[in-house]
Amino acid sequence: MTTLRAGVIGWPIAHSKSPVLHGYWLRHYGIDGSYERIPVEPGTLPAFIADLRTNGMRGVNVTLPHKVAVMDLVDDVAPEAQAIGAVNTIVVQPGGRLRGSNTDAFGFLENLKSGAPDTNFFSGPMVVLGAGGAARAVVHALAEFGTVRIANRDPAKSQWFVERFGRNVKAVPWEQRAEALRGASLLVNTTSLGMSGHPPLDIALDALPVRALVHDIVYAPLETDLLRRAMARGNPVVDGLGMLLHQARPGFSAWFGRDPEVTPELRAAVLAT
Ligand code: ATR
Repeated sequence: MTTLRAGVIGWPIAHSKSPVLHGYWLRHYGIDGSYERIPVEPGTLPAFIADLRTNGMRGVNVTLPHKVAVMDLVDDVAPEAQAIGAVNTIVVQPGGRLRGSNTDAFGFLENLKSGAPDTNFFSGPMVVLGAGGAARAVVHALAEFGTVRIANRDPAKSQWFVERFGRNVKAVPWEQRAEALRGASLLVNTTSLGMSGHPPLDIALDALPVRALVHDIVYAPLETDLLRRAMARGNPVVDGLGMLLHQARPGFSAWFGRDPEVTPELRAAVLAT
């Protein structure tokens, strides 16, 4: 039997945690497989993708800056990837056809469901802060369930979400982000505020119901100032590491034939790197 091969492409790629988590699963399940970190310069992306059809790999994860460019290079783009406007997973199919999908919305929802199983986070309006790449997957996932209030420093970017995702998405001025929390059942930070080396997220939480779930997609540090303040007032919280772990599951399952589990041991292994 030949070794099953997959990997992650990006430029730069040294920081990617994907090899750690796929490597953990391969060892844990005793699968004869490999998952490589593959640096692909933007100019060589078309050649790499063409090669992928015949080079024996099962597929790849795609990270910055290639998530949008690969959409034009694969044969099929799954509906959710189309809606999000980015591909993060490519599966090589029989005959060398390439299918691109986006597993970020899945990873986001799975993380919330497993991190806060008793919280009905879509029972009321859901507030999303930020309107960058990560927000697209988050809003795509949430708009299916109900009303999303999106607030971003640059209002033109929030407006893009209203146009793309329709009536369920309402744009809120960044200055009114604290008032937007009134009656909310979920608050998600998708901005880079709170990340190591960035300023903390500046938002008063007084209007947020204490039952509302608070989630930060930032996972370095794991416990952001936002999560700390939310916990101190009694809100349930879910940290951002689980989104990274759960979004990897569909790719692993397609390439290596097993739906892997997200466990405390996996979290620890990824945090230790
Ligand atoms: P990602 O793809 O991870 O979402 P991004 O596309 O660079 O990253 O988006 C970063 C987000 O953080 C954006 O919503 C950005 O707001 P703008 O669209 O107005 O730039 C937000 N952000 C970054 N620094 C910020 C700051 N100092 N105040 C408010 N929002 C900030």
